[in-house]
Amino acid sequence: MSVRQVTAVAVAFVLLRVWHVSAAACANVPRTSTAVDFAKLSFDYLVVGGGTAGVALSARLAEDPSVTVGLIEAGNIHVNDPTVEVPALSGIGNASYDWLFTSVPQTHLNDRSFAIPRGKMLGGSSGINGMAWGRASSVEYDAWIPFASDNSWGWSGLLPYLRKCENYTLPPHDPFPGISEEDRERALHDLPHVDGFSGLIVASHNDVYFDATFKMANVLNDLGIGTNVEPQSGNASGVTNTLTNINRVEGKRSYSANTYYCSHAGDTNYHVLLNAQATKVSFAKGSNPLIATGVQFVVGGKTYTATARREVILSAGTIQTPQLLELSGIGNSSILQSFGIEPLFDLPGVGENLQEHMFVLAQWQVKPGVPTFDLLRNNATFAAKQQKIYDETRGGLLAATDSMLAFLTLGDIVSPSEMAALLDIFDKEAAAATSPLTKLQNRFRRGYFADGSAAALELIEWVRGLVNPAPNESYVSVIGGMVHPSSKGSIHIASNNPLTPPAVDFNLLSSEFDTQLILQILKFIIKIGGQAPFSDLVQVQTDPDPSLQTDEELLSYVSSGASIGHHSVGTAAMAPKDFGGVVDNTLTVYGTANLRVVDASIIPIHIGAHIQSTIYAIAEKAADMIKNGGYGRSNSTTSA
Ligand SMILES: Cc1cc2nc3c(=O)[nH]c(=O)nc-3n(C[C@H](O)[C@H](O)[C@H](O)COP(=O)(O)OP(=O)(O)OC[C@H]3O[C@@H](n4cnc5c(N)ncnc54)[C@H](O)[C@@H]3O)c2cc1C
Ligand SMILES: *[C@@H]1O[C@H](CO)[C@@H](O)[C@H](O)[C@H]1NC(C)=O
Ligand SMILES: *[C@@H]1O[C@H](CO)[C@@H](O)[C@H](O)[C@H]1NC(C)=O
Ligand SMILES: *[C@@H]1O[C@H](CO)[C@@H](O)[C@H](O)[C@H]1NC(C)=O
Ligand SMILES: *[C@@H]1O[C@H](CO)[C@@H](O)[C@H](O)[C@H]1NC(C)=O
Ligand SMILES: *[C@@H]1O[C@H](CO)[C@@H](O)[C@H](O)[C@H]1NC(C)=O
Ligand SMILES: *[C@@H]1O[C@H](CO)[C@@H](O)[C@H](O)[C@H]1NC(C)=O
Ligand SMILES: *[C@@H]1O[C@H](CO)[C@@H](O)[C@H](O)[C@H]1NC(C)=O
Repeated sequence: MSVRQVTAVAVAFVLLRVWHVSAAACANVPRTSTAVDFAKLSFDYLVVGGGTAGVALSARLAEDPSVTVGLIEAGNIHVNDPTVEVPALSGIGNASYDWLFTSVPQTHLNDRSFAIPRGKMLGGSSGINGMAWGRASSVEYDAWIPFASDNSWGWSGLLPYLRKCENYTLPPHDPFPGISEEDRERALHDLPHVDGFSGLIVASHNDVYFDATFKMANVLNDLGIGTNVEPQSGNASGVTNTLTNINRVEGKRSYSANTYYCSHAGDTNYHVLLNAQATKVSFAKGSNPLIATGVQFVVGGKTYTATARREVILSAGTIQTPQLLELSGIGNSSILQSFGIEPLFDLPGVGENLQEHMFVLAQWQVKPGVPTFDLLRNNATFAAKQQKIYDETRGGLLAATDSMLAFLTLGDIVSPSEMAALLDIFDKEAAAATSPLTKLQNRFRRGYFADGSAAALELIEWVRGLVNPAPNESYVSVIGGMVHPSSKGSIHIASNNPLTPPAVDFNLLSSEFDTQLILQILKFIIKIGGQAPFSDLVQVQTDPDPSLQTDEELLSYVSSGASIGHHSVGTAAMAPKDFGGVVDNTLTVYGTANLRVVDASIIPIHIGAHIQSTIYAIAEKAADMIKNGGYGRSNSTTSA
């Protein structure tokens, strides 16, 4: 979702009135520290970055009353702030909530720089994300096993943690088309074994739906793409009525701050420092492997040091974890030296292997009277009614997101001969790959494409205008993205000033395979928009301009219009060191005794899913690993 879109959505909801502060466990107990107090303490575990993973991990670690846990977060706490918690609102694009990063110009996309929203608050990106909740297919987690050299990093090892973070709430009735009574019975039978019911993050369904949602699902069903009633069961493919992390009782976003943090905010062994930016990990002088002793951080222009007795854990996310490693002397030595940073350990994989989902869009203006989310923007009476519904019931459109996602295999959208041509391009590019990491990734990716064991692309239907919506008009948009792209980028420091953002280069469409695939995805989206019963609702296709017909014209539309999915992973990959890995299967950084990474950056090969639940699962697994000692190296190599 682009900032432009989100801003349009946010503007639509300026009508939102008074927010009733709920009596959340957290309301009056933000047990947070001052910089001076924090620097005086000595922590068993010091976690850097209070985002999705960092809050979940630190809260779990603090469950052991015999250990002291410190958490450093650059942003503020926004629990009970409607901008974060009302599903219809968003902090994206606002410096009070968002780091507002931008990428370097993308050479294959008209030199455009992409906005990279990242949550800057307790809760991190879980406080600004789109609230789609889901998992990838089991084979996509099993693909991590050879990278980790550890069976516990596959589907069966992660499933207990995917369940542990989750509180699944069954919809009272699922109105989605394609769900037969038989399917529903089967799902109900399987649910208890795959979903989680005692976790902290609520996974629920929308309670309002648009006709346009059903009709688009019908079109996909007619093309042979089935509705998947159990997308969490290990097969994520098909049309789904997506889960959302929205607490339907309170009508609020359920994210790491108002769940994991709030349920532990009163713990006396849990110390959270807000509005503090970590700048460097400190190591014991001359230690080999390096022993992390603490973290430097800046508050109000002043530098402090917090002390860690057992471990330092980086949870600063895919963008900033590699930045912190490099600032601390761990990374590609020649890059560090070029910025005057003394290399402590040469680890060239740091910041490499950046993988992102890239999307294209088609948008249709719908006929007068067809209801969409645009009503909130166009009709003040309607918006006021929805506000009333929200105030009284915590439901309605202000507590809803878009409902329909579809994960499609390559075979779902191309003919056998097109498939053969695409695989031919894939194979030619793969033959030129030299990095062992890329080679191993390609082996799995080719399998997904050729045998359909996992999705190659995702479609998201937005029942609203996303691009230049005209006043009083209503729209439906579909974005489609590659979930297993060939193009990989990098993130490196751009300065030795730790407060300067890193240089993020997604390197989008650097692969001919990706270019041809995104073209096929765009053609498929245009095709489904023209198919009944969905097309019965359509007045005119606004994007791409219907006059664009040839491949060349459509590709030029891609260059000027493609956007990113905000699912960046991989910059501190869990893989063998000589493959370009940064952490081992205990998530310990190579060359160190007690520095771990726990966030989206450890994912070695991307997955076809919205990634937040996977990141919570990584945090839950890491918490167990650390609590159980022994499994990590920290216990045996450092003293408390
Ligand atoms: C706009 C957007 C929409 C998305 N939509 C969805 C969706 O619908 N569904 C889904 O599943 N996923 C979605 N995602 C992806 C998902 O939310 C993220 O991948 C995930 O939240 C990342 O978790 P993380 O713990 O790796 O990093 P983050 O949650 O980003 O946490 C990193 C934290 O570290 C802090 N930090 C960074 N550097 C420092 C420092 N030097 N010192 C102190 N603190 C620091 C940051 O402030 C932040 O709080 C979306 C992401 C975005 C940005
Ligand atoms: C950004 O958020 C802050 C805090 O909620 C708010 O006061 C401010 O008006 C917002 N700015 C914009 C441009 O929306
Ligand atoms: C899960 O969510 C439901 C509905 O919001 C709530 O009633 C229940 O208490 C939650 N369960 C747990 C374990 O928090
Ligand atoms: C996954 O589920 C979809 C929808 O039900 C189905 O069409 C597809 O064949 C399944 N894929 C696999 C690999 O089982
Ligand atoms: C390290 O960085 C330099 C400079 O960007 C680059 O030329 C080199 O290939 C990198 N080394 C490795 C092993 O990636
Ligand atoms: C605006 O919404 C109200 C309330 O739903 C409805 O009665 C009215 O007809 C709408 N106006 C227009 C112009 O569609
Ligand atoms: C929107 O449509 C309504 C009803 O058709 C009309 O009264 C109103 O003037 C229109 N507003 C704009 C900005 O065009
Ligand atoms: C790990 O640390 C715990 C807590 O300090 C201790 O009880 C346990 O014996 C240690 N385990 C190993 C393998 O050193």
